[in-house]
Amino acid sequence: MRKKSLVLLTVLAILLISCGNNSDPKLANDTLFKAQELFPESPRPEGQKDVIELTCDPIDTIRIGFIGLGMRGSGAVKRYTFIENIKIIALCDVVPENVEKSQQVLREKGFPVADTYTGTDDWKKICERDDIDLIYVCTHWDLHTPIAVYAMEHGKHVATEVPAALTIEECWQLVNTAEKTRKHCMQLENCNYDFFEIATLNMAQQGLFGEIVHCEGAYIHDLRFLNFDENGYWNMWRLKHLEKTDGNTYPTHGLGPICHIMNIHRGDKMNYIVSMSSDQFGMTIYAKEKFGEDSDYAKRDYKKGDINTSFIRTEKGKTIMLQHDVTSPRPYSRLHIISGTKGFAQKYPQKGIALEPNAHHFLSNNKLDSLLKDYTHPIVKDIEEKAKEVGGHGGMDFIMDYRLIYCLRNGLPLDQDVYDAAEWSAIIELSRRSVENQSMPIKIPDFTRGAWQKVNKVTYFKK
Ligand SMILES: NC(=O)c1ccc[n+]([C@@H]2O[C@H](COP(=O)([O-])OP(=O)(O)OC[C@H]3O[C@@H](n4cnc5c(N)ncnc54)[C@H](O)[C@@H]3O)[C@@H](O)[C@H]2O)c1
Repeated sequence: MRKKSLVLLTVLAILLISCGNNSDPKLANDTLFKAQELFPESPRPEGQKDVIELTCDPIDTIRIGFIGLGMRGSGAVKRYTFIENIKIIALCDVVPENVEKSQQVLREKGFPVADTYTGTDDWKKICERDDIDLIYVCTHWDLHTPIAVYAMEHGKHVATEVPAALTIEECWQLVNTAEKTRKHCMQLENCNYDFFEIATLNMAQQGLFGEIVHCEGAYIHDLRFLNFDENGYWNMWRLKHLEKTDGNTYPTHGLGPICHIMNIHRGDKMNYIVSMSSDQFGMTIYAKEKFGEDSDYAKRDYKKGDINTSFIRTEKGKTIMLQHDVTSPRPYSRLHIISGTKGFAQKYPQKGIALEPNAHHFLSNNKLDSLLKDYTHPIVKDIEEKAKEVGGHGGMDFIMDYRLIYCLRNGLPLDQDVYDAAEWSAIIELSRRSVENQSMPIKIPDFTRGAWQKVNKVTYFKK
């Protein structure tokens, strides 16, 4: 009898609990709370394998074709004149003066003149040549994936400026082409090589912060002046993107360094994202003040909300906060915050590291400097002085270029692979879709299709 009433009580309790969970009929369908799989995984074509830690035959002298020689591309050509064992074979831009400027740099530095191309589709001719190993892409965003895919299909390794892709569809194109052709596709995320970022990567890998639980990154850069400058970006391409789309349109500078610190697709993976944007205010106000109330620029409908904030949760229960703002009058920041069970680091607004047992306070400047020195990443030690001399955002651009050529020459996996390119770029469309749907959680595709557990940490390989 006692046993019977115990069973009855248990059944009653279970019923009560489950009724309680469903008391609000709007919440009854628990699928409402699951991340929406807007982008189901594209199956891996038969016979194709992943490219985790892909190695290719070493190339003694890397023959390069540069496509896009505007502000960024012309700087890249200059930096490459400081790198040994390379040949600049081709220069391409639709603006002939841009090509000539870079050609002039080669002449001044005593490099052989390069073949030049100025037609809209001439980038295809460069990819089709059989005397080039690496295509280096610095055009506006829309051409990054088309050129990268075409280049790999024609047997070339690719290095492309950020972001590598604009849509999930383009991300899959990059991944599938890299897997099919077994060619490297590196997104040129230079911020991974900035001195503080890469030192904190080393610290994280040595366990200084304990278990990393949460990171934050951002791209906060007042670009209003440049975006509205008719002599700035070619064809004002960047302004056009702000007219077209909301969400985080430039996620990789903030996300790249923290994804490596969190071993994304090397033991953990980003699972889902929620994203929210403010309305657009700053562009219109700026345009009214600069060009007048009745100007065309003031009347345009800019889709991009001023401040976008996204949250990402990983498979291992870690979180990421990511922000984007290019229209507010405020100091530059990429945040770069790392919060672990034993310590904390941040780069902006002021560099600081706090460690147990005194993590209530940042280390003194002297201690911070000596810690940063002690944890200089091994790849930085090799090239620090020269990088600071050559420059490029204080040296990080040169470290990136040097590493790309070093790994290609030594047949080593590159520091950033095609899955990094896809994952970091995918945030553009994922955040936009979330914003458009009241911050709906959206599943982040696993571009490695299950290979994210093959290795358990990020490695910047050395011979
Ligand atoms: N990693 C960084 O720190 C960093 C900094 C700045 C820019 N970028 C990236 O670099 C890229 C270029 O930016 P930018 O500031 O140099 O812009 P930009 O407008 O100055 O340069 C783009 C160039 O592409 C050329 N171009 C356009 N169509 C072409 C075609 N069909 N074939 C060949 N060339 C073509 C244009 O003439 C122009 O010279 C962008 O993707 C940007 O996001 C990265």
